[in-house]
Amino acid sequence: MSLLQRTLGPFTTTAVGEGEMPLTIENNRGHDVGLRTIHAALDAGCRHLDTAWAYYTPGEEEQTGEKLVREALDTWDGPRDEVLVATKVGLRRAWDGDKPVWPRDGKPEHIIAYGKQSAQALGVDAIDLLYLHRHDPEVPYEESCEGIKALLDQGVARWAGVSNVTIEQLDIARRVLGDRLVAVQNQYSPVHLETQDTLEYCAKLGLAFVCWSPLGGYRHPYDDSKFDPFRKVAADHGVSYQQVVLAWELAKGDHVFVIPGAHRPETIVDSLQAGELELSDEELTYLG
Ligand SMILES: NC(=O)c1ccc[n+]([C@@H]2O[C@H](COP(=O)([O-])OP(=O)(O)OC[C@H]3O[C@@H](n4cnc5c(N)ncnc54)[C@H](OP(=O)(O)O)[C@@H]3O)[C@@H](O)[C@H]2O)c1
Repeated sequence: MSLLQRTLGPFTTTAVGEGEMPLTIENNRGHDVGLRTIHAALDAGCRHLDTAWAYYTPGEEEQTGEKLVREALDTWDGPRDEVLVATKVGLRRAWDGDKPVWPRDGKPEHIIAYGKQSAQALGVDAIDLLYLHRHDPEVPYEESCEGIKALLDQGVARWAGVSNVTIEQLDIARRVLGDRLVAVQNQYSPVHLETQDTLEYCAKLGLAFVCWSPLGGYRHPYDDSKFDPFRKVAADHGVSYQQVVLAWELAKGDHVFVIPGAHRPETIVDSLQAGELELSDEELTYLG
């Protein structure tokens, strides 16, 4: 199946990727379902996998997300070299009582060490796209970006991205990373529109904007009624409302990508069809 393709820095890849996180953090459905879910996405034409050093269950083996991606690609009989694999460094996992949390660690020497561990876990000489996961308030943002720059200079990563950034942080990253910065990954969905400013800024700069938790995420409470207009349009098209949400996000600009998560093959295969869903101007106006 040929899915909608877009340009992300030097890569041409599918506008809809797969977010690996639910397959290896807490409440996942186990290794075999995870493997089947990634294979189902790849078989359906997905060519963009998004993982992170920190996608593991706190208290258990680290980097299981990256290792699952590697295993899935090693055991897949399709064209491995067509697949863009993105990962992120700068966060860890821990428990705060019975609550799973994401401690930040942005010291440049740690960023460098994490990046090398990511390349090793992914089984690659050079990571296609490496994001700085989130700002560590204990470390000046510029210094964490210098860690990413060192990884680019050393050939551990080919291209860089930043995640969870404000416009101010993005400008700092641009100064440090220059043209090797190609993507911004921020939370964006009908229930998280706070990053509209960075989405628009990326369009002006020619950077890719990758929407994380594009369906609102499965862990966070939100006002579900915000999805009602999407349900209405979905009923008219005879598709899932999730496809309409993703298509609406992709319609925000040719620089926009989505990386929906899934716990099982059925949901990611459904989401991957969103790039083919055409929404009319009237529908896009109605959805806002
Ligand atoms: N940069 C960051 O800081 C950051 C933070 C969070 C997430 N992310 C990235 O964003 C990715 C996606 O975020 P997410 O997994 O939190 O949330 P999400 O994509 O907004 O939502 C995932 C949930 O939506 C459901 N779903 C997906 N497609 C569906 C469909 N077509 N029909 C019905 N249900 C569907 C899944 O259901 P099932 O459970 O039934 O499969 C899953 O529970 C992550 O995997 C990760 O790669 C990045």
